Amino acid sequence: MIKIAPSILSADFLKLADEIKSIETSGADLVHLDIMDGHFVPNITFGPMIVKQIRPLTKLPFDAHLMISNPTQFIPQFADAGCEMITVHAETEQHLHRTIQFIKKLGLKAGISVNPHTAVDFLPYVGDLCDLFLVMSVNPGFGGQEYIKSASEKIRKAAEIREKCGFNYEISVDGGVNAKTLPEIIKAGADIAVMGSYFFGKPAAERSELVRNAKNISK
Ligand code: DX5
Ligand code: ZN
Repeated sequence: MIKIAPSILSADFLKLADEIKSIETSGADLVHLDIMDGHFVPNITFGPMIVKQIRPLTKLPFDAHLMISNPTQFIPQFADAGCEMITVHAETEQHLHRTIQFIKKLGLKAGISVNPHTAVDFLPYVGDLCDLFLVMSVNPGFGGQEYIKSASEKIRKAAEIREKCGFNYEISVDGGVNAKTLPEIIKAGADIAVMGSYFFGKPAAERSELVRNAKNISK
């Protein structure tokens, strides 16, 4: 069954505590944290200080998606802030394998994300260390964009490589996930659906139904 990871990027930050609690009560599985630096992506969000403050609000795992240059520099701070999973972008790293080793040494789950233009050919050489492979299905930086169709093929390729190489990473899909695109994403082999505007665009009272419906598609 697909796991749901609402991204607080689209939450109402004036009611952030309630929004985070609604993630848990909706039956979602993870809290997705979009960390942006205004350098790797053309937007800025929040950093480890905020993550540490919101950590006590839920027992759900924190899935940090680092859209920042030089991610290694900040990994210990996000680990210390209470993130269970840290994902870095392949495009930001000269030494991706070493960075994944570093995250694993800290006792965390490690993920790699790829922008829409980045191919998955490198996966056989680092996928054994990964707990997560996050396919960007929009250009990172903003919520509410349209799903880029070529992501579906990439999900399928990542699943094929996992099968062929005997790896265990979960495949996460991020960007433009909604009722329309979910069936295709699930069919392609996604294990985790990140949802920003679709989840937070609904009133809190309707979010459990949204999660239930999404999970029912994948039954
Ligand atoms: C975009 C972020 C996404 C974003 C998705 O750079 O990585 O996690 O929140 O938003 P939606 O679901 O609205 O496309
Ligand atoms: Zn994200």
